[in-house]
Amino acid sequence: MVDTRLSRRAALMGAGAIAAWATSPARALLMQVPADGAVPASIDALIATMTLEEKAGQLTLNAAAWGGGVATALNPPSTGPSFEGQVADAVAGKLTGVFNGNGAVMAERMQRAVMKDSRLKIPLIFAADVIHGHRTIFPVPLAEAASFDPDLAMRTARAAASEAAASGIDWTFAPMVDIARDQRWGRTVEGAGEDVRLGELFAAARVRGFQGRDLTANDAVMACVKHFAAYGAAESGLDYNIVDVSERTLREVYLPPYKAGFDAGAASTMASFNEIAGIPATGNPWLMKTLLRDEWRFPGLVVSDYTGDEEMIAAGFAKDGRDAARIAFRAGVDMSMQSNLYMLHLPALVREGVVPQATLDASVRRVLAVKHRLGLFDDPFRRIDAKREKARSRTKANLALAREAARGSIVLLKNDGGLLPLPSSGKRIALIGPFASGQHDLNGPWVVYGDNANAVDLATGVRAALKDKAALTVVAGSEVEKPIPGGIEAAVAAAQAADVVLLAIGESEGMSGEAQSRTEIIVPPVQQALAQAVAATGKPVVVVLKNGRALALTGAVRDAPAILVTWFLGSESGHATADILFGAANPSGRLPISFPFETGQEPYHYDHKATGRPAQTLSEPYKAKYRTAMNAALYPFGHGLTYGTIGYSALSLPPTMAWNGTIDIAATVTNTGTRAAEETVQLYLRDRVATITRPIRELKAFRKVRLAPGASETVRFTLTRRDLEFIGMEMKATVEPGEFDVWIAPSAQAEGVTGRFVLGAG
Ligand code: BGC
Repeated sequence: MVDTRLSRRAALMGAGAIAAWATSPARALLMQVPADGAVPASIDALIATMTLEEKAGQLTLNAAAWGGGVATALNPPSTGPSFEGQVADAVAGKLTGVFNGNGAVMAERMQRAVMKDSRLKIPLIFAADVIHGHRTIFPVPLAEAASFDPDLAMRTARAAASEAAASGIDWTFAPMVDIARDQRWGRTVEGAGEDVRLGELFAAARVRGFQGRDLTANDAVMACVKHFAAYGAAESGLDYNIVDVSERTLREVYLPPYKAGFDAGAASTMASFNEIAGIPATGNPWLMKTLLRDEWRFPGLVVSDYTGDEEMIAAGFAKDGRDAARIAFRAGVDMSMQSNLYMLHLPALVREGVVPQATLDASVRRVLAVKHRLGLFDDPFRRIDAKREKARSRTKANLALAREAARGSIVLLKNDGGLLPLPSSGKRIALIGPFASGQHDLNGPWVVYGDNANAVDLATGVRAALKDKAALTVVAGSEVEKPIPGGIEAAVAAAQAADVVLLAIGESEGMSGEAQSRTEIIVPPVQQALAQAVAATGKPVVVVLKNGRALALTGAVRDAPAILVTWFLGSESGHATADILFGAANPSGRLPISFPFETGQEPYHYDHKATGRPAQTLSEPYKAKYRTAMNAALYPFGHGLTYGTIGYSALSLPPTMAWNGTIDIAATVTNTGTRAAEETVQLYLRDRVATITRPIRELKAFRKVRLAPGASETVRFTLTRRDLEFIGMEMKATVEPGEFDVWIAPSAQAEGVTGRFVLGAG
């Protein structure tokens, strides 16, 4: 077989190295790649030549000594070995790869050393947390979920993959698909929110985006569906806390997005930090074997989370490192991240017969299989290319996509009196707040490679949109959590001199993300005071909210005539927000999480059960409500306004659905306003009576429509029996005949048009 890539490889590796590579067992894999892309038999031949230590090395992944940024407080890049030390480990076969290294140049040096000097010449795999962009930063995943446009998320994942792959990254630790029903949990920002259907759709879209059509392509990265499983159900919204949910809730709510990710082809998954009902996920054979391998037939790779195996010691599940390695490995975790416990203990555990050799080989086979699928045996340098890295970074097309995605992620909660959009001339604008200007808090959490310094802030975006630049005054007013001396006075003076105030307040990027659980999901008190003082001027206020989770809005923030949720929008933040503020684009985002009245309602999710005492009003005694709040949201899941005014009418709903049939449901939406509109039409169901109580509503489908002023459209949905399933008595998907309520509505709490049908018996 003539290999045209050998010349490029020779240039990268040097002539001596290429000779060694050409005769190595790993090289034999290149010669035997079956045309159908299946795992070649020679992987087993390679495994047969490996020592126990080399096998344990293939199951050991560490943070790169040449880290690109601090991914989390737990991941400082500089505490590990030196670069040279890590290269030596890699050459000695003690590492399968590294993660969160920065840039093609260093990746190339490391890979070259391994391909030249290691005994087996098994290429390293380079992983990274490419969560919402690489050099071009897209909106945080929660924001993108607000677009209700999975295709958009697929496109941003594709662009991120292309940028990341060019800097040598083969594998991203994304998408995060954990359902988040408690907004105190900081990692809500990394996922698609509280809803199962939306979660499934975004999980699948992101996997497809990252992996592309062909995992060997130099713009594809392997996806890692995380954190398996139910990490988002952490008790009290406290990060890393225990999870104790029923198997039914697990199967009905938390598991479906992971399954959707696997069905979309995700080649890896990450074990979560949490325990489930007393058993850590990392040491949970039911989760990793019975469910994942036996029931779901997942063929891919399972990696632990960062020191997740070792943490079973502190959790009281393992007595020491050896015990932790044994438990995690026997439970089904193939690869250990960062603790080195597999490297340290697996060889001895196999020698002593505690871990079967065949189990070790099976995990090594899975690792080599993904390296093979990524095309690394074929060309270890296929994604490492400093020139391509530069050429693909922050391209015009990617920045345009970032702006499009950011616009689509913004949610207009409220727009009393049609305050928005603002005219681009003729009004004096005071832009006030800690997020009004400056290169901070634009990208949001989980950005390892992007830089806030490269992002467009709000002041810049607003100024660019204004015809008369002098009409804009910018004042901070306060810091995020601390007052500025004289800040409120300056803000009030600016408001008084203006016709309209843009109040840029909310959470900093450090307030959500990993380990950033909050006890109160509020706008920090100092900013609340700023809002109060500005509102007291009587000037109309548009709140431009920055947030990584749902917030409980109160006082002048809640009561402002207009509120925009702008999350963390990434590279094009300011431009995209200005596009919405001044009407160059229509707001079309919808809440993927419910904004409660008060923090104390958390965990709150729209698809809750009725209870035996549902309340209709706050004054009813002995009903399921709080003294001060209904069991409902101030702004529910699915809510979001557009600049048009939308009416719902003419529900078309057959009275019955046959057991083996489908049902077509339609409604007419009309833009009765004077501006163009983008509406997200949502279909909700409620199973009236079942052997297991059912939620008061569940989202089953949605469709986005654009409507010119005065225009109408009939929006049609077809439901199948699968849409009526729930997890029944036997812990299996079940459907029961009977009555179903239907809503086609603009949010989980809106009436829209409603009706009922009956599913006939089978
Ligand atoms: C996080 C993971 C992440 C890993 C590697 C952990 O702390 O929980 O989501 O992928 O670090 O950076």
